[in-house]
Amino acid sequence: MFAGLACAWALPGGLVGCKDRNGGAIPPTATPPTWTGEVAPLIARRCGGCHGGGGGPALAPPALGSYEDARRSAGAVLLAIRRRMMPPFGADNTGLCGTWLDAPWLTDAEIATVGAWVEHGTPQGAPSLIRDAPDAPPRFDADRDHLVTVEAAAPFTPELGERAYRCFIVEPRLAKATAIIGLTVSSEPAGAVRQAALYELGNGGALRTARQLDAADPGPGWSCYGAPAIAGAGVKLLASWSRNTPVQRLPAGTGVPLARETALVLQLRYDLIASAPGIPVRARMLLATGEVAHPAHFVALHPVPFALAPGQTEARVGATWTADRAATLLGLVPRMHTLGRVLDLERTHAGERQCLAHFGHWDVYDQQLFRDAEPIALAPGDRVALTCEFATTSRATPVKMGEAPDDEQCLAHLYLVDAP
Ligand code: HEC
Repeated sequence: MFAGLACAWALPGGLVGCKDRNGGAIPPTATPPTWTGEVAPLIARRCGGCHGGGGGPALAPPALGSYEDARRSAGAVLLAIRRRMMPPFGADNTGLCGTWLDAPWLTDAEIATVGAWVEHGTPQGAPSLIRDAPDAPPRFDADRDHLVTVEAAAPFTPELGERAYRCFIVEPRLAKATAIIGLTVSSEPAGAVRQAALYELGNGGALRTARQLDAADPGPGWSCYGAPAIAGAGVKLLASWSRNTPVQRLPAGTGVPLARETALVLQLRYDLIASAPGIPVRARMLLATGEVAHPAHFVALHPVPFALAPGQTEARVGATWTADRAATLLGLVPRMHTLGRVLDLERTHAGERQCLAHFGHWDVYDQQLFRDAEPIALAPGDRVALTCEFATTSRATPVKMGEAPDDEQCLAHLYLVDAP
């Protein structure tokens, strides 16, 4: 979907006008926006954390921190923000298919500002000494949020291929049972983890298998691309995080129960640009914990094992789940691997269909919990359908469902609480 395209228009006399998302008119500006005037501050705040505005390093190309860099990439910048590819988020937030609490979408007015700057030939403007810093992500408060650190015993040096993702057994030894109410991941070097998930090993068999995998793989932890590669029951998703949403709070009043004596698997996907070759990465997941009125759980919605024929531009699979009692759906964690293109979630209630989530340009790092802005009340008998679309044109042999990098997945973990 190309939201925002309809917004920028030129008014007579070279004025640039726009309406924001709620339809309010934004006063036209008589002079076109300039780099130092409007564009650099906007880029620093909204893109600088990843593309090096505001004095920080660029974790991802293109660098946008200086006038020269930004001018060179101006066309790509405008395309990326008009298509809502950047800042990266994944879920469609137009309102046609759910709205999301953490969506970092630029406002229509911000897109129009960059559009007008590009249309007027990227003017530089008068020099400015004021440096704008990237929007600081909200933080947890060590006193109030009861932080629990989940960290591998030893740092790990990621490499290309199999060693770009890793699982570690962690045993946090809590003083008492609690619930996860938020999470964030930090690392040294900064930005070196792009995506992380936390699983519970629910029984002794799962822990034994994890120990065997750990022992069989040289270095700390073991290589795991999809889930922790432990077959069978007892492995449960507790939390999922992506750098795209640095600090995640679970929906108010809800949390995922965490047993006192529990063995966990921390799964990390490293960013090899931010981590730099040969440098060990120390990464930790911080869990904000506390008592909650509404314990939540994830329900894994996925198809029966499938195989996709090679050479297809639109290979589809899907699955449905039927609510057996009244529940409230507050979010989802989507998952496909690298061949995934589109993921859709839809609810059918009393014969009527409602689009719940649409991921139109899938990126494998879009695996945080996407929190619904409006809770979805599910009645017993409501059906939730998941559809995944893949492009298998790069493959010469069938692609099976599995956890290896060459396998595929079609999965949505639904974040649910029982209805009050
Ligand atoms: C959370 C980190 C993050 C933020 C914030 C972010 N980007 Fe990006 N950007 C990336 C990554 C990572 C890539 C590399 C492509 C990919 O892996 O998705 C990228 C790629 C791009 C590209 C290249 C796209 C292409 O087609 O090759 C452009 C242009 C871009 N970003 C512009 C922006 C602009 C403009 C903003 C702010 C409005 C922004 N980005 C905010 C992480 C970010």
